[in-house]
Order: sequence, then structure tokens, then C-alpha cells
Amino acid sequence: MDAFQIEGGRRLSGTVGISGSKNAALPLLAAPLLTSEPVKLSDVPDLSDIRNMRRLLDTLGCTAETVGPNTVSLHTTDTAQSHAVYEIVKTMRASICVLGPLLAARGQARIALPGGCAIGQRPIDLHLRGMEALGAQFELNAGDVVGRVPGGRLVGAHVFLGGPFGSTVLGTANVMSAATLAEGTTVIESAACEPEIVDLANLLNAMGARITGAGSPRITIDGVEQLGGTDYRVMPDRIEAGTMMVAAAITAGELTIENCPLDALRAAVDRLEAIGVDVHHESGDAYRATVTVGAGRILQPCHITTQPHPGFPTDLQAQFMALLTLADGHSVITEKIFPERFLHVAEMTRMGAQLFRQGPTVIASGVRTLVGAPVMASDLRASAGLVLAALAAEGTSTIHRVYHLDRGYEKLEERLASVGARITRIDADGD
Ligand code: EPU
Repeated sequence: MDAFQIEGGRRLSGTVGISGSKNAALPLLAAPLLTSEPVKLSDVPDLSDIRNMRRLLDTLGCTAETVGPNTVSLHTTDTAQSHAVYEIVKTMRASICVLGPLLAARGQARIALPGGCAIGQRPIDLHLRGMEALGAQFELNAGDVVGRVPGGRLVGAHVFLGGPFGSTVLGTANVMSAATLAEGTTVIESAACEPEIVDLANLLNAMGARITGAGSPRITIDGVEQLGGTDYRVMPDRIEAGTMMVAAAITAGELTIENCPLDALRAAVDRLEAIGVDVHHESGDAYRATVTVGAGRILQPCHITTQPHPGFPTDLQAQFMALLTLADGHSVITEKIFPERFLHVAEMTRMGAQLFRQGPTVIASGVRTLVGAPVMASDLRASAGLVLAALAAEGTSTIHRVYHLDRGYEKLEERLASVGARITRIDADGD
């Protein structure tokens, strides 16, 4: 299995460009199930999650052809097979994105229930509740959720998508996609406000949907009879951009970040500035900005609480924890989206971090230096946190099981090496 070997302690400096967003691209890739016309998506990152989604779409009669660098043309030509099988769903929880489009376009869907995962339980009750409000009916059969739409067409309704941890991002994506073809108007209350939802609404509207309010907690969708094809460019990845910002800060370096979705990163930038990191918007609009990020050796401690957007993103919690292990004092990090998302804590502790966890909160008491060590990646963002810690640590670290990282960061090691990191991909046998 692949591992990263990182010799830490080198200041990063130079320019990095941000790829298209994984979490935007996954629901966008499912949208062509809603139409019989081709949809061309550009800036689709080349990641294992994306390849798995393409594999899933293929089994559902939607072919995804690479027609240029990071550009995919998707075309639904066969609607006979509507079963998302466990072999694919178990590799990628975002497979649930096909549920809404299948129910809307075909009146039926069968999706293997995703199991638990490293960051927590991850139920889909809100997805199902939302779709039931539009008239779908579900039963559980042999580990699959089997959905059907009596009468064949969903009917618009008021849908409330709030849950114990806020709204649901992919649940909102599913209901919004499904409602585009429903009869009448759907209003989603307590909708997720994440920028990826806005990106999906923009694509669906370009396909002929009538969606307003995306990016706010109330989204209104006037159903249409059919959707058509279009060309669309995926938004840049805000989590990759935030990770690069921390890479600059944790190495006391300076990075110029191009194609940076600054507007989607306000909470993260607020925390960076509280830590004493300088973030400067050089040029471009706030959706695709050029930004320089630089920091000195002294980092201030701070408090971070993850929240639904526009709050601080859970997907940057591990990376910021790595940074705060080196701050000059005590920081408090509270996880309010996935209260169990702390698998990186024990691994960072192996590198000399002083971290004390109590329930959903971790207190980080800053240390002067981290020390390189062999550590184990456990999920995508935890892995990114460990890579960042290793970039700052004295000596050599080996990050095992980087296949987690490859799910969400395209050629991360090459891009970090291009700005001065000593990082190589190795084949660590017996992993
Ligand atoms: N939840 C429920 N019921 C549901 C759905 C969610 O209780 O039916 C709970 C979850 O357990 C969690 C909270 O609601 O506590 C939020 O979960 P959400 O549904 O918003 O998560 P998601 O849509 O499955 C997406 C991202 C995650 C990101 C979360 C939160 C994609 C493909 N995944 O997941 O990204 O952490 O939103 O922002 O978009 C990652 O990229 O590493 C990643 C895990």
C-alpha cells in the first residue's frame, strides 16, 4: 500500500493551483441521470471517489467519457438498471447522490445502504424523509433501500431537512435534484447552505431547472417537465484551498494560491487571521481568487467550533488542529458536525502533540516542535492533518495508508513538492 515519506521542517514557498471540488463534483456527476441529453463537466478532479462515481453511473446506464483534461461528458442512454450495488456503494458513501435523480427520472431506485464509516455513523434518514415528503415510498430489502414513486412522478411539497447536527449537505442535494422534475413547487426549509449546493443549483438551472434561494436555508424549486444538456465548470475545492493555506502557515512559509474559492472560506480565513496568519486577496473575484498566505514562526492559539456553512467546516478541523498543536498556548477545538471525527488525535500525539480530548472537544496545548514518526491515516481529512503535521515536524514521518488521501486530493505529494516540501510516495509493504 502507498505511503508518504515526509522530511519536515522546510518552509513552503511558491504557487499552487486549486483543483475542481470533489464534494461539488460528486452530486454534479449524478445530475445527468435527470436528462437524456449529454452534460459536459469540466474541472472534474481525478480522484478515486470520482472514478467510483463514474463506475456507479455506468452501471446505471449513464456513460461518462473523458473528453479532455479533467473534462467528462455524461450521457444517460439506458434507464433499465436502477440498482446502486453494495460493491460500489461501500467504497464511497456519496453514492447516495444518485437516489434523488433516479427517483425523479425513473420513479424507482434501489441503493445499498452505506455502512458506518471512520468519521461516525452517517445515517440517511433525512434524505429519505425529504424524498417521502415528495411522495416516494421506501422499504428495506436485503441491505438495500428500495424506493418507488406511486404514479411515477414526485409531487412538490414543503420539506424540512434539519437534523440533530444541522442540515444535511447531500440530503439537500438529493431533494433539490429530485424536486426539479416534480409536479409543482417544492420548498426546502433548513436546507444546507454549503457552496457545493449553490454549484449544484447552478448546474441544474443551466439544464433547465427553476431553483431559487440556493445558498440560503430556504430553497424553492418549481418543477419542470424535463431537463436538457449543458456544459458546466465545477467550482474550485474549498477544502483543498484551506489545506494549502494551513500548509503555508504551519511551515512559516508563503504560498500563492490560484483558483481559490475565497468567498467559501470566510470562517477558515477568520480563524487563520486570529492565529496570526496573513491572508491577502491579490486578484480575481472571490470565487476564483489569487490569494497569498504567509505566516511567521509565532502562532496564536484560538477556539474553533465546526458548524454547517457559513460556519467553520468540519472538513478542515484536522488540518487546523495540526496547526494549533504548534500555537503559543491552549486552543479549544469542538466538533459539532461529526462528534467522533477525531481519529487523527492519537496519531498527532505520536508526533509529540499535546492533545486532550473530552467528548466532542479537544484542547490543544501548543508545543515548540513536533517530531517525525510513522503514523496511520484513517480517513481523508485526518490524513491531510497528518501530512501537514509532518511538513512541520523535525525529522522524517511516514504516513501509511494514503489511499484515504487519494480520495480527495489530486497528486497532493507532487504539488507540495513543487513548492519545496520533501515528500515522496513510497510502497510500504505489509501496511
Ligand atoms: N445526518 C443525519 N441524517 C442524515 C444525514 C446526515 O443525521 O440523513 C447528520 C450526519 O450524521 C452529520 C450531519 O448530519 O452529523 C451532517 O451530515 P451531512 O449529511 O451534511 O454530510 P454529507 O452530506 O454526507 C458532506 C461531505 C462531507 C462533509 C459533510 C459536512 C460530500 C461528498 N461529503 O457529507 O465531506 O464532511 O458534508 O460538511 O459532500 C469529506 O470530504 O471528507 C467529507 C466527509
